[in-house]
Amino acid sequence: MIVANWKCNGSKAMIDEWFQSYKKVVKNNGICDGFIGIAPPTIFINEVYNQIKKNNLNIDTISQDIAGYTRKFTGAISADMLLESDAYSFCIVGHSERRISYNEDNKIIQDKIRECLSCDINPILCIGETEEENKHGKTKEILENQLSILVNMAITDSLTIAYEPIWAIGSGKTPNPKDVNEIHKFIKDVVQSISTKNLAPLVLYGGSVTDKNSESFFGEEFVDGALIGGASLDGTTFAKIVNIFNTTKKL
Ligand code: 13P
Repeated sequence: MIVANWKCNGSKAMIDEWFQSYKKVVKNNGICDGFIGIAPPTIFINEVYNQIKKNNLNIDTISQDIAGYTRKFTGAISADMLLESDAYSFCIVGHSERRISYNEDNKIIQDKIRECLSCDINPILCIGETEEENKHGKTKEILENQLSILVNMAITDSLTIAYEPIWAIGSGKTPNPKDVNEIHKFIKDVVQSISTKNLAPLVLYGGSVTDKNSESFFGEEFVDGALIGGASLDGTTFAKIVNIFNTTKKL
């Protein structure tokens, strides 16, 4: 499962160019284990959705955020609205940029997950530690706390977790893939122990993934894909990463 998070980037011209390049490079329409998704800024959802349909591509469109029950604020988008658009069946929740810049705490993120689950929107929950926490060996403790919001929630297999160490996002710094693998196993175990249905979620890695380093992550057993920021803004690079994922995971 490979997901592009375009964050606050894009324009009509960029989208046009992105799809031209993507379809030239992607092999076998990117059919992969899981799915390929793009989370564009909401204002461009129609452009992206129409390009996917026009080009008959195997890509899902994803929301970058959802209001959550208690957050029906100016500028926010509710689950009902997402459901009215055919374009959305997935939603990113709890990205560190929102945790930090919009003061989203565990309670708010829990509301958002709950809203997703009640409306059949598949949440992609982002978790991750700061560099300081990492240096002090607190990664697992932090992740366990961020995952604790799932206790008493009707988790289904629609839940995906994205492990995004905050210090790796947009920095060009990446953790050792072996360490990422160990953390992903830990995340699966924690969620499985919380889930009444014993479900282990897919776990994506995010943080400075490129076409140059993606193979080293995809080669690890518990890395089920990637959530990609900067490198997803170029259709050629993103297609290369999708191709690498498909080749690596089939080995
Ligand atoms: P970068 O790939 O730019 O580091 O961003 C990762 C990210 O935040 C995806 O959600």
